[in-house]
Amino acid sequence: MRVYDIIVKKRDGERLTAEEIDFMVQSFVKEETADYQMSAFLMAAYIRGLDSRETLDLTSSMVASGEVIDLSSIPGVKVDKHSTGGVGDKTTLLLAPLVAATGVPIAKMSGRGLGHTGGTLDKLESIPGLRVDLSREEFISQVREVGVAIAGATADIVPADKKIYALRDATATVSSTPLIASSVMSKKIAGGADAIVLDVKVGSGAFMKTLGEARELAGMLVDIGRGAGKETVALITNMDEPLGFAIGNVLEVREVIDALKGKGPTDLVELCLALGSRMLVLGGVASSIGEAQARLQETLNSGEALEKFAQLVRSQGGDPRIVEAPGALPRARIVSDYLVKEEGYLSFIDAEAVGRSAMVLGAGRATKEDKIDPTVGIVFRHKVGDYIKKGDVLVEIHANDMDQLDQADTILDNAINIVGKRPEKKPLVLEIVDSR
Ligand code: URA
Repeated sequence: MRVYDIIVKKRDGERLTAEEIDFMVQSFVKEETADYQMSAFLMAAYIRGLDSRETLDLTSSMVASGEVIDLSSIPGVKVDKHSTGGVGDKTTLLLAPLVAATGVPIAKMSGRGLGHTGGTLDKLESIPGLRVDLSREEFISQVREVGVAIAGATADIVPADKKIYALRDATATVSSTPLIASSVMSKKIAGGADAIVLDVKVGSGAFMKTLGEARELAGMLVDIGRGAGKETVALITNMDEPLGFAIGNVLEVREVIDALKGKGPTDLVELCLALGSRMLVLGGVASSIGEAQARLQETLNSGEALEKFAQLVRSQGGDPRIVEAPGALPRARIVSDYLVKEEGYLSFIDAEAVGRSAMVLGAGRATKEDKIDPTVGIVFRHKVGDYIKKGDVLVEIHANDMDQLDQADTILDNAINIVGKRPEKKPLVLEIVDSR
């Protein structure tokens, strides 16, 4: 078999066999195939596409390029969750302890933020002392003892994805649905869970800008999960405005603690109940979505979810006192009010622009090497649909640098729309794509 012939075949729009796809992936990981050949292959796949069988084969080959975590020593059905990424998306921090407190074990591997979207690991690390670089043994024994662990993926999980993603990033081949789907699902499958719940975000702050694109991705993700023998459900959810009120690492952790105390933003809590109820059903601890939602609500109201979050923080080396006293979390030096410039209904908040304004404050990374500032970010006081008056505080900007504050302020000027008529609000959960 020759890599050259595989490239020709895909360039000409033919279907590749499982063996050809596997040869391409494994030879690239072993550095027997050059970057320029893999780049040509990726561009051919980008333009010609991969059908669902080829996408599943690509995913399986990527999984086989590294280690698959063995979670079999943890009792119960292990359910994983993944979000395609959004602005202010702190769902995992709330959902993982909430679901774990009902008895579904959560062994979660998460990533860091890049560009205008944040990453769970960065948010967790804004808690002083907390470690996300758990060894495989620490990770598994924490899930056995506490019921939940959140850690960074090690280099031996899907090495093919790291190498391929770096090329896609440099060759304008990121935005291909089969390439995104195989990248996402290879990491989920290698994570070892028995079932997967996916949150596919659509809107101005998401990877997928239209419902059509989100449906295509969700369908492909569910097909891959099912093809790999994992029960998989995807929720398509709206990301036309940031989730919750806070954007920025420590600010999002504070919002999660509030939510665990019953004072969370409605959209964040609604999303966690929607995703979490599917996790409980797949995990076998509830027999219907209604029963699962009631169980989650009870777990939230009783303080058990908050206690589980405190246990998670303590087990990973963080200071659990921040749960009772979130005021002790680090703070930015400057908090500046951004005032409403005209009266009316808030009709649109451009989530991507808000993400960019948090990034210029230092909350996110423009490149993988950038360091983030955990304390900075943006806290909204209103959501789309609210009536606001000139001079009201719309946003608090948390900053450590006046120039960055000015830049963030300017981005926000163009990120907000106010109209005279009450806007229609889209539902948060737009569609459910179910493999059953
Ligand atoms: N997220 C991933 O993990 N992979 C992609 O290709 C795109 C988004």
